[in-house]
Amino acid sequence: MKKELKIAPSLLSANFANLSADVMECEAAGADLLHIDVMDGHFVPNITIGPLVVSALKPVTNLPLDCHLMIEHPDQYIPEFSKAGADMISVHVEATAHLHRSISLIKSFNIKAGIALNPVTPIEFAFEAAEYCDFILLMSVNPGFGGQSFISSFLRRCHLLNNFLIENQLTHVEIQVDGGIKADNIADVVRAGANNIVSGSGVFSGNIRDNISALKSHGSS
Ligand code: DX5
Ligand code: ZN
Repeated sequence: MKKELKIAPSLLSANFANLSADVMECEAAGADLLHIDVMDGHFVPNITIGPLVVSALKPVTNLPLDCHLMIEHPDQYIPEFSKAGADMISVHVEATAHLHRSISLIKSFNIKAGIALNPVTPIEFAFEAAEYCDFILLMSVNPGFGGQSFISSFLRRCHLLNNFLIENQLTHVEIQVDGGIKADNIADVVRAGANNIVSGSGVFSGNIRDNISALKSHGSS
């Protein structure tokens, strides 16, 4: 069974001076969730959004809020992001020594739990953790910044993970891709097995509506 294609605009490339307008535009254009990139200046060389912004966005949208934690000590902050209104939280496998504990902590708030893997982190981490996850985020750039180029080894890794999920009756686990996705390469990542597609510069450079509908149509062709 083919998984539902979901488009997740990454707010990192939105207009921070008028975030709610961009969020409402994404929702009207048919986005399926909002991807919120949380960076701490330690795990990645950039600082971005905290729980305050998540709670400010909660009342302006009905879309699920997907918080991608690119931070050290994620367990310290999971409760706050959950209280702020996160519907999904992912933690990086490279950032926590106790991944099962982090996943369980996320799930204890009744929200979807995901793990994220950097581009050359062994894919076997995902195999080990898959049965506990609602989604697995495979990075297709080095985390930290929007607007970088897609790293093509993602496709091989995604294939391996997708096959693993099929062979182990875990097809309810979604594969999320993040980094360098635009209308011209979305079909490749969907073919490799990803269904939850994060796009930042691909959504917010130019017309949001046109970009989201191009992603949807190329992704389902
Ligand atoms: C990178 C972030 C991404 C980023 C994607 O660290 O996790 O979500 O915003 O941006 P694009 O789509 O421009 O590569
Ligand atoms: Zn992200």
